[in-house]
Amino acid sequence: MKILFLNGPNLNLLGTREPDKYGVQTLKDIENYIKDESRKLNIEIQFYQSNIEGELVNKIQEAKGVYDGIVINPAAYTHTSVAIRDAILAVCIPTVEIHLSNIHTREDFRKISLTAPACIGQITGFGAGSYKLGLIAIKDYLESL
Ligand code: DQA
Repeated sequence: MKILFLNGPNLNLLGTREPDKYGVQTLKDIENYIKDESRKLNIEIQFYQSNIEGELVNKIQEAKGVYDGIVINPAAYTHTSVAIRDAILAVCIPTVEIHLSNIHTREDFRKISLTAPACIGQITGFGAGSYKLGLIAIKDYLESL
């Protein structure tokens, strides 16, 4: 099983970026944690981060025929990106949306996700644990097919 983890804008700043909301772990720390977890589950993963919407769209398009599933934290693009939503729908790769913070307890504009309706489901508010839960969710979903 091959899973692609995609990370949107400003997630490269994790560790120092608003640690009260996003925790003190860097994206590299989270990647290492998820790599350990995926090894135990015999899942191959790739981690990718970009601040650029089109690069995330390209990655989603390139995932077709290569990855069985996607776990995505679209970050701010969650609330704005029709392009990422359409890309997920276009490739028909099962996708789980994840967030470190609980977007439903924050500002009103964060409560709306344009990308979640293109996904199997959304995991939000468990810090770095959302990445692990995303891995388990996509694995269970793919195994149930
Ligand atoms: C986020 C939540 C988004 O609203 C925000 O723009 C982010 C991070 C999260 O993981 O909690 O950049 O996706």
